[in-house]
Amino acid sequence: MTTAGRDLYDDARFFAGYRRIRDDSAGLNDAVEIPAVRRLLPPVTGAAVVDLGCGTGALARRLADAGAADVLAVDSSRRMLALAAAHPRVRYRRADVEALALPDRSCDLVVSSLVLHYVADYSRLVGRVARWLRPGGRFVFSVEHPVCTAADPMTGWTATGDRTVWPVDDYASEGPRTQHWIIDGVRKHHRRTATLIGGLLAAGLQLTGIEEPVPGPAAVRNHPELAEHLRRPPVLVLAARREPREG
Ligand SMILES: C[S@@+](CC[C@H](N)C(=O)[O-])C[C@H]1O[C@@H](n2cnc3c(N)ncnc32)[C@H](O)[C@@H]1O
Repeated sequence: MTTAGRDLYDDARFFAGYRRIRDDSAGLNDAVEIPAVRRLLPPVTGAAVVDLGCGTGALARRLADAGAADVLAVDSSRRMLALAAAHPRVRYRRADVEALALPDRSCDLVVSSLVLHYVADYSRLVGRVARWLRPGGRFVFSVEHPVCTAADPMTGWTATGDRTVWPVDDYASEGPRTQHWIIDGVRKHHRRTATLIGGLLAAGLQLTGIEEPVPGPAAVRNHPELAEHLRRPPVLVLAARREPREG
């Protein structure tokens, strides 16, 4: 049995383990992924923002604090949303991002942090995001790096003799992957980097930024366990823009 992302975070055993990881400030998210997402974000003053898979809402609230006029923060998990602190300019909504319907040209920025590798139909979602954006609007998102999601099952670091390697296999074979991550049978979706970028271009968006962030020397000094992320890219962050001058 495998568990899709939309149900995963309401599994009690998974959720307890996930919270332990996120409460560790040395985690990948705080040290590597979030700084890269922030580097690619546009100014948000007065913006209407949508956060797809907001989790406990930290990014949504940060964008509201940075001046966004309204942030719609969407997540499928009751447990995650229950931990989300209220903010006067953040509206939380429990929904599946694959079924979310929003008016065309209704937002200036769509963000998504480490969620789209759970989405089965990437090109359909990107097509909808492109329509939700106003001309000049931005889409910034991170996913687990395709190098990490390629092998099936996603075995993670694997011992070979006296060292470990991260196996990259079946890279060109896109589709669902199974991983033991806190619990057995976590289902993610592997896509090539070219597919992730090509989906943006096919939806009529312009690629404006790309990052494969790794921890800096200070982060590795303070938290030596982060050094493994220097050996293979943990996340891919992409930024795109809807054409500013449309008819
Ligand atoms: C790795 S967590 C990231 C949470 C948040 N973006 C962050 O960076 O802290 C993935 C989140 O995606 C949500 N999620 C996964 N699939 C989803 C779906 N189909 N619709 C809505 N939320 C989904 C999960 O409930 C979870 O909160």
